[in-house]
Amino acid sequence: MQRRAVIGCLILFCATVLAATPGEGPPPGVADPRLAWQHWALNCQGCHRPDGSGSMQTAPSLAGMVARFTNVPGGRQYLARVPGVATAPLSDSDLAELLNWTLWRFDAAHLRPDFQPYAAAEIAGLRARPLRTEAAHERARLIAKLTRFNQ
Ligand code: HEC
Repeated sequence: MQRRAVIGCLILFCATVLAATPGEGPPPGVADPRLAWQHWALNCQGCHRPDGSGSMQTAPSLAGMVARFTNVPGGRQYLARVPGVATAPLSDSDLAELLNWTLWRFDAAHLRPDFQPYAAAEIAGLRARPLRTEAAHERARLIAKLTRFNQ
């Protein structure tokens, strides 16, 4: 009886986690969404919060926002060069998957249908030139473009 209750709880837990991810099937450029989510939990959510909502003190909200950067020139590069991403202790391919997952998980609505997922080789090139103190400036520059061309 007790074992059944435990299994029931496990099924409920898994169903909740799966239900929290939008759409059907794995998103483009993500072979293993569960692994990407684990990488998110271990490396990112401390600042960005589990639901990507961020906070004034830690990190900007990715929810409903992050994919908009992919629609302005320079935005795609910015997302991979931002310090928290570029310096994450993950391989290039794990980081590519995590970034693709992040876009899909938190802002699928702003992803264009023709969006090309990040690949490991592209991530390798971009993270080799991480943004440092200039990240905030680059962010503000891109956001100014977003509000003009990409509502
Ligand atoms: C120490 C806190 C911290 C951690 C950890 C962190 N970030 Fe960030 N993140 C930030 C801050 C702050 C910014 C805003 C740009 C800047 O000034 O660095 C940002 C910006 C971003 C952006 C660009 C979107 C925007 O609105 O500027 C993405 C995408 C992102 N983070 C994803 C991640 C991912 C994925 C991870 C985990 C691998 C991660 N972050 C880990 C603090 C963090």
